[in-house]
Amino acid sequence: MTCTVVVCGFFGDTGKGKVISHLSLKDEIAVTARAGVGPNAGHTVIYKDKNYKLRMLPSAFVYDECRLLMGPGVLVNPEILLQEIQITESKDRVGVDRQCAVIESKHIEADKKGNLAEKIKTTGTGTGPCNADRALRTAKLARDIPELKEFLTDVPFEVDEAIKEGRNVLIEGTQGTYLSLFHGTYPYCTSKDVTASAACSDVGVGPTKVDEVILVLKAFTTRVGAGPLPNELSWKEAEKKGWAEVATVTGRRRRSAPFNYKLAKRAVMLNGATQAAVTKVDILFPECKGVDSYDELSKEAIAFIQEIEKRIEIPVTLIGTGPGALEMVDIRDSPR
Ligand code: IMP
Ligand code: MG
Repeated sequence: MTCTVVVCGFFGDTGKGKVISHLSLKDEIAVTARAGVGPNAGHTVIYKDKNYKLRMLPSAFVYDECRLLMGPGVLVNPEILLQEIQITESKDRVGVDRQCAVIESKHIEADKKGNLAEKIKTTGTGTGPCNADRALRTAKLARDIPELKEFLTDVPFEVDEAIKEGRNVLIEGTQGTYLSLFHGTYPYCTSKDVTASAACSDVGVGPTKVDEVILVLKAFTTRVGAGPLPNELSWKEAEKKGWAEVATVTGRRRRSAPFNYKLAKRAVMLNGATQAAVTKVDILFPECKGVDSYDELSKEAIAFIQEIEKRIEIPVTLIGTGPGALEMVDIRDSPR
């Protein structure tokens, strides 16, 4: 049984939601713990003809036996969380750590003006100002909020129990390696580290407990907000290629560029990744849409995957062929 961390190797929006929903169903994940910054994340999960856009709840909710936890490093917006609990009908299996800091309206207001809005072009969801208050030791915690009372728990303890019992555990990172406050494109980045080590710290899991780190990459690169994006395409060019995407949380246009091998390789190093997922392969190779076995991938798609493996020096074990949770070639157990 394994403890797996899932993180993004680019600038977010690589399809972690889809990869995690696939893993939760396939591996019957017993406990998942959401790491990352907070509701600035937007994860799209498509399962059984339903399209969920999640900002707080773990994407593993689609496996209905899975316990859904929010680690103490994650910022909680109670209104958004309660809404998502309702939409996903997951009330009985959600746990929020007592020490999660809570986003208030003053944080959202501060995130929508000045340097953050105008220069950095943040998501405006209040996460930066809330993390600043947390560092100043003035932020409210989940344990202070009556509406969260019924969900309060000790997340590190629950995760540790699950690991000790030999159950499958998933740690869900958010954002992306190059949005990290430490390793990203500062100042155009988010308000804390978001690599695999930070994800573990967010949920209170020590590094020796982790078995696998899955690095999620997309077949092309995108980023929203300001900051460098090497080899960026115009919106027109992106539309032509089918790379023109709109952000889940803010509705802004995502900027796009070809797959970046150099960034991917460095992300393997920064995250200690043991395997990679490459999503949206069907956008580059439409003949692969919906394929779920390696043999059915086209020669061109296989050559692309092999080139990635050669250059990032870890195996690509998950290949996304469509937006649905199960549109995935999963070769984790079948050596080629
Ligand atoms: P903040 O995290 O809202 O402070 O925004 C800082 C930068 O990170 C902005 O460029 C955002 O667009 C970007 N960002 C934050 N979260 C995500 C995410 O989940 N996906 C993609 N970009 C994000
Ligand atoms: Mg996203």
